This record gives sequence, C-alpha cells and structure tokens, in this order.
Amino acid sequence: MSKSVRHFLDLNDIPAETLKAILAHAHELKKQKFNPPQIFHGLSLAMVFDKRSTRTRMSFEVAMKQLGGHTVVMNMEEMQIGGAESIEDTANVVSRFVDGVMVRMSNHDTLCEFASHTSIPVINGLTDHSHPCQIMADLMTIEEKLGSVEGKKIAWFGDSNNVAYTFAQAAPIWGFEFHIACPEDLKPEKKTHPSLDLNHVKWKGAAEEAADGAHVIVTDTWVSMGQEKEKKGKNIDKFMPYQVNSDLMAKAKDGAIFMHCMPVHQNEEVTPEVLDSPACVIYDEAENRLHAQKAILAWCLEEAGVSVQDSFDFGGTQDE
Ligand code: CP
Ligand code: NVA
Repeated sequence: MSKSVRHFLDLNDIPAETLKAILAHAHELKKQKFNPPQIFHGLSLAMVFDKRSTRTRMSFEVAMKQLGGHTVVMNMEEMQIGGAESIEDTANVVSRFVDGVMVRMSNHDTLCEFASHTSIPVINGLTDHSHPCQIMADLMTIEEKLGSVEGKKIAWFGDSNNVAYTFAQAAPIWGFEFHIACPEDLKPEKKTHPSLDLNHVKWKGAAEEAADGAHVIVTDTWVSMGQEKEKKGKNIDKFMPYQVNSDLMAKAKDGAIFMHCMPVHQNEEVTPEVLDSPACVIYDEAENRLHAQKAILAWCLEEAGVSVQDSFDFGGTQDE
C-alpha cells in the first residue's frame, strides 16, 4: 500500500487515535450541518455497488455534495468488471478519474485486492466481513446519547454477522465490553475470527444474560444480503430466542438505548413496541451515517487536498 493512500477498509487497519479523531471531526461536522465547510471542492468520489443500499448510498452522496464535491454512482453489474475486465485494470482506471472510491461488495479479500491496485483511497461500504462506516456512525450515536463509549456494556442479539464483527473489532479500540447473544454454532472463536481480541467479546447463549445491565441493546437482520438461500425458512427459527422485545429491554440498564443499522424486519429481530419506545434511536443512528461519512471522507481525502482544521490532526496513518 502506498504511504499516502488512506484506505478505510477495516477498523483494525487504522490507528486508534486516528479513528477517535475522525469521530471527533464527525461531531464537529454535525454542528456545522447548516453551514457545511466546502472542503471537498473539486473532488470526486465514485461509489460502486454490487448489493442494495439506501443509507450508505445516500449518506456518501449527500456528504460529498454538501461539502462541495461530486459523485459517480456505478452498479457493478453494469461495469466491465462484471464481464471480463480485471480488478487491476479497473482499479488503475478508476484511480485516473476520481479522488476516492467507496465499494460495497460481498468478498472482503476482493475489496482489499482492488485497494492494493488503486492510487486513491478505497472505503469499505460493507462486505460480508465488516461494515466499518456503520460502526463509526453507531459509536457517534452512543457518544451523543450516553456521553461516551468507554466502559459501556454493548449487547448484540441474533446473527453474528458483518456488523457484529465490526463492533467486536471496535471494542478494544474504544474500551467497551461487547456481549454477543447468538446461537452457539455462530459463536465468534479464534479459528473463525483470528484477528479479533476475544478478551473484549463475551459470547452468551442466553439473551437475558447478555441484556442484563447493558447500556446499549443492538441487533440486525437475521438474513444478511446474499444469505437468502442459505438462511430463509426454517433456519431462521433458531434466532427467535434472540429477538429484541420489551422483556429483553427490561433487563437492560435504566436509560439503555436500542440500536439497529437498518433495514429493520419487524417481528423478526425486533418487535414494534421496542421500535416505538423512547429507547429507540435508529433514525438518529441513520442520520449519523451522513456526519460520520463526511469525517471518514475528510480523513481519506486529506492527501488529495482536503484541508481540515488544526484541531483535527488525524495523527498517523495505517502505514506508519
Ligand atoms: N445500514 C446500511 O448500511 O444501510 P443500507 O444497506 O441502506 O446502506
Ligand atoms: N448485515 C446486513 C447489514 C445491512 C446494512 C447485511 O449485510 O445485509
């Protein structure tokens, strides 16, 4: 990876102080939402999707445009890479047109291979492995609602998926406890998750135990994009003991919040009364995708000419 290219592929790749500075910048940019600084003037971001998206697509597009930049949105199926063109040629050519590229695709290794051939920053807009942009917005939301993330108990219910994995990566960086309540065959283990610091990840077979005293209750779909064939039907019944409902919320700490990256499947992973309760912060969480995206882009594009305030010294890059 060239020294000056700041990819945002996985939280583990980026120094903790840089991630925290990006988050601090996101809070500042939210304060400036009605007077956004034009720091992306003249810069362009390509967005490449091989899966559906509402929040990721809109938040990146609006983030670039509000701060003075441009976007190009591509569906991978309609690109030459969906036919015969190589990853390397695509990466080299995209690097000549735009200043950064956000990609949503299934295979994380393919994303990393693509990034290894670009001369511009590549941002992970979700792979089957991780969703780092989502977790930046989630941590921002927890800081807004609860003051800080450090020392909190965050409890995850249902499928042990890409979003759960990224929370688990974030736990040692931000110093929170992460409890996963999921079926035993999905339990995160060293052999399935070699790079995770499992000292900060506690698996619970019983949902009530994970919820007990939690500051944050969080879930996601039981069937992630691309898993429809494998999981639909009877297979999803095994997740029912991990449904977030009022009884489960009652085990959490007073003032606990409910989070979900969305899209939501009512009466599957969460019940309507939880969604309608004051604990539910999912729309603030969704809005924070926009502010977090701006700060992630500002860090990634700094080498392409974005100037950020002195107070946002992002520190070292992943290359240092
Ligand atoms: N949470 C999230 O990434 O939403 P989209 O799939 O709509 O982008
Ligand atoms: N785990 C979900 C997240 C969607 C934003 C998926 O990968 O489909």
